[in-house]
Amino acid sequence: MTSEIEIKIPVLRNPVAMQDWSNSRIGDGRTIGCVPTMGALHEGHLSLIRKCAEECDETIVTIFVNPLQFAPNEDLDKYPRDEESDLKLALQAGATAAYCPSVETMYPADRSVFIDESAMSKVLCGKTRPRHFSGVLTVVAKLFNACVPDRAYFGEKDYQQLLLIKKMVRELDFPVEIIHCPIIREPDGLAMSSRNKYLDDNERKQAVCLYNALKAAEKAFNDRMKNPREIEKIAFDIISQADSARIDYIECRDAVTLDDIEIINRPALLALAVFIGKTRLIDNIVLIPETEN
Ligand code: PAJ
Repeated sequence: MTSEIEIKIPVLRNPVAMQDWSNSRIGDGRTIGCVPTMGALHEGHLSLIRKCAEECDETIVTIFVNPLQFAPNEDLDKYPRDEESDLKLALQAGATAAYCPSVETMYPADRSVFIDESAMSKVLCGKTRPRHFSGVLTVVAKLFNACVPDRAYFGEKDYQQLLLIKKMVRELDFPVEIIHCPIIREPDGLAMSSRNKYLDDNERKQAVCLYNALKAAEKAFNDRMKNPREIEKIAFDIISQADSARIDYIECRDAVTLDDIEIINRPALLALAVFIGKTRLIDNIVLIPETEN
């Protein structure tokens, strides 16, 4: 018995097979939704899959740990992988197909074409991970070409990634609608992430400082603090108290363009990246001035 039969979800492993699967359903008038992931599925991913399944006739979950978006010193080798358990979870959440290509299928050895964005990808995570977003955009473009989706679902947890994908879709005329999904959190507020698995017990306790910092900053903002530097400082002071924490960045920027801002008079993104021990975690919150409500 093949794992495909046991798990009862078609698993496509190359772009032509995936395109054929989608095109035959499109021919039957069915809408296609796509949820790109790197696997190690958790409730954050499952919320995207459920929403996609509610809104589209077909839901393709892609599972591919994309080497192009990891720097040589990052966690590509130890990134958690468990395809069988991911397929079960995806199916339970409403997926009707999975796209799981190998690295060799995705990237020929002589590859030389990449998608680069030259503005928004240079700030926030792009500063310390200079090739990361090129890797993300290149793989997402390939996943869209393979899955042929009408709609694709992305989490606000990776807010900068979401904005960049929207920009790529707009500027390169991909015929796909990008849908935002809210951040899913653990009961104490820690944003769910496949990388939370790396945290030991003590680090896991301290990791909640990211959420506490964002909430304190949001409270100060609601109490009329509108200076982004002061807002950043509130978050900085809270995270600095956690002895396992090392701040990569804490920045408040325009929530649409990611431009620098001097005052919060339109929606602003407070985004942060913090190492807890060796694990780099990201989180964010959008601050919306009252006149925008
Ligand atoms: P991955 O980290 O596996 O995340 C897949 C999708 O799940 C992304 O859209 C991400 O924003 C969303 N997600 C992760 N944690 C979430 C949470 N706690 N709440 C809501 N959504 C959450 O992001 C990637 O993979 C890759 O960069 C990818 C887009 C697949 C390209 O390789």
